Amino acid sequence: MGSGMNLITTVIGFGMSATFIVFVCTRIICGRLRGGESRPMFEIESRIDVEQPEHQASGLEQVVVSAIPTMKFDHKAFSSLEDAQCSICLGEYQEKEVLRIMPKCGHSFHLSCIDTWLRKQSTCPVCRLPLKESLGIKHVRSATFSMPRSFDDSEVSTEHSQLWLLPGSERSAVAVVSEDPVREWILSEGNATQITRISPVGGGCINRASHYDTDAGSFFVKTNRSIGPSMFEGEALGLGAMFETGTIRVPKPFKFGPLPTGGSYIIMEFIEFGSRRSNQSVLGRKLAEMHKAGKSDKGFGFEVNNTVGSTPQINTWSSDWIQFYGEHRLGYQLQLALDQYGDSTIYEKGQRLVKSMGPLFDNVVIEPCLLHGDLWSGNISSDKNGEPVILDPACYYGHSEAEFGMSWCACFGGSFYSSYFEVMPKQPGFEKRKDLYLLYHYLNHYNLFGSGYRSSAMSIIDDYLRMLKA
Ligand SMILES: *[C@@H]1O[C@H](CO)[C@@H](O)[C@H](O)[C@H]1NC(C)=O
Ligand SMILES: *[C@@H]1O[C@H](CO)[C@@H](O)[C@H](O)[C@H]1NC(C)=O
Ligand SMILES: *[C@@H]1O[C@H](CO)[C@@H](O)[C@H](O)[C@H]1NC(C)=O
Ligand SMILES: *[C@@H]1O[C@H](CO)[C@@H](O)[C@H](O)[C@H]1NC(C)=O
Ligand SMILES: *[C@@H]1O[C@H](CO)[C@@H](O)[C@H](O)[C@H]1NC(C)=O
Repeated sequence: MGSGMNLITTVIGFGMSATFIVFVCTRIICGRLRGGESRPMFEIESRIDVEQPEHQASGLEQVVVSAIPTMKFDHKAFSSLEDAQCSICLGEYQEKEVLRIMPKCGHSFHLSCIDTWLRKQSTCPVCRLPLKESLGIKHVRSATFSMPRSFDDSEVSTEHSQLWLLPGSERSAVAVVSEDPVREWILSEGNATQITRISPVGGGCINRASHYDTDAGSFFVKTNRSIGPSMFEGEALGLGAMFETGTIRVPKPFKFGPLPTGGSYIIMEFIEFGSRRSNQSVLGRKLAEMHKAGKSDKGFGFEVNNTVGSTPQINTWSSDWIQFYGEHRLGYQLQLALDQYGDSTIYEKGQRLVKSMGPLFDNVVIEPCLLHGDLWSGNISSDKNGEPVILDPACYYGHSEAEFGMSWCACFGGSFYSSYFEVMPKQPGFEKRKDLYLLYHYLNHYNLFGSGYRSSAMSIIDDYLRMLKA
C-alpha cells in the first residue's frame, strides 16, 4: 500500500514537474516569438510562421511582402487597367476585396493568394518580374514602423486585420484611383461627371479593351500593360489623320499615354457596330475619298514609325516612292527574314527585285495618299447604320495602290473596285504592280507566322525577276 502511495506521489510529482517545465518552455517560446515581433505583421501571419519556420530561402520575407502596395478592389477604378480576376486562384475580384499590386508590372492578386506564393517565390506569378530589386529594404522598414502597434491580437477583427496588414492601404488606394489617367481624362476633358459602367470588349487579342459608359456618352479604351505609349501614339495619329479627312468613318482618337503602373492606354470614340456587312460599293467609294483627301506635303512616310501586325513599320519621310517602298517596306522585311530565319535566298532575290522594279512604275504619277496600311476584313466593320468603319490602322502616306496589299484577306468584290476607281482612276500598269504590293504583306506574314507564307512570297519574287529579266 505504502509503495503504491509512493508510486502515485512520484507520478503526480513527475507530472507536475513536467507540466511546469512545459509551461516554462511555452512561456519562453512565446516570449521569443513576441520578442521577435518588432515586426507586428507577424502576429496575424504567425500560423504560417509556425508551419514554415525557416523555409523562406527562395521566397520573400513577410516583412518585404507586407510592404508591397495593396488596395481595395473598386470595380470602376480597376477594370480600365486589367482583368478583374486573380491569376492565381482565377477567382473574380469582389467589391472591396483587398488586392496586392506588384510594384513594377502592376499585376494584381488576392492578398492571401499572392502572399502564399511569395513565401516560396520572389517573382510576379504572371510576368515573372523579380520583386526583390523593386523593393528597397529601407522603404520596407519605414513602412513597417509607421504602422499602428496598439492592437491586441484577440481583438483584431477581420477588417482590422486587413488594415493591420496593409500599411497605408487607404493612401495607396486613393493614389491608385487618382492616378488612373483614363478615368481622369473621361471625367475632365471627356466632359463626363459620372462613369456608369465599364465592360470588357472582346476582339483584339493583343490589347485589353473596355467600353466606358458615361453620362457624356461612351468611350472605347484599350490598354496594354507591357509596352510604352508609342504603339498607341501610332494608332492615335493614324486614326486622327484618317478622321481629319472627314471621309470614311473611323473612331475618333481622344487621348493616349502611359499608365502609372507601367504600360499604356488609348481612349477613343466608342462605335457601336452593326450586324450587317458594309456595302462594298460604299466602302470602295469612301476609301477612295480618303485616299484623295489625305495629302502630305512631306512626301511618303508618316510622323511616327508604327507597326503592321506587330512588325515595326519604318515611316521615315522620303520624296521618292520607289526608294521608300524598296527600302522601308520590302527591304525591311527581307532583312528581317535574313536575321530571323537566315533566309539568304529570299533576301538576295528580293533585293534583286528591289533594284530592278523601277520599270513597273513607268508612266505613273505617284502622289502620297493617306493609307490605312493594314486593310483586310478583320479591320473593316460597319456601324449601326451600315456605314463602313475601318479600324486598327498602320497609317502612312504612300502610293494609293499599296492599300490593296492585304486584298488577299479582304474579299473586295467587283462593286468595291468599280466604286473605288470612279473616285481614284485606275493608273496604267495597275495589274502589273498588284503582286508587288501583296509581296510586302506576304513577307510580313512569313516573318510573323513562319514558313507557310514563304512560297507565296518567293513565287511573286521569281515571277517578277523573270518578267523583268533581272
Ligand atoms: C467637351 O466639351 C468641349 C466644350 O464643349 C468640347 O470642345 C469637347 O470636344 C468635348 N469633348 C468631348 C470628348 O466630347
Ligand atoms: C486588325 O488587324 C490586325 C492584324 O493585321 C489585328 O491584330 C487586329 O486585331 C485587327 N483589328 C480588329 C479590330 O480585329
Ligand atoms: C501588349 O503588347 C505586346 C506587344 O504588342 C503584346 O505582346 C502583349 O500581349 C500585350 N499585352 C497585353 C496585356 O495587352
Ligand atoms: C450599296 O449602295 C449602293 C449605292 O450607294 C446601292 O445602289 C446598292 O443597292 C447598295 N447595295 C446593297 C447590297 O445594299
Ligand atoms: C523610325 O525608325 C527609323 C529606323 O529605326 C529611325 O531612324 C527613325 O528615327 C524613326 N522615326 C521616328 C519618327 O522615330
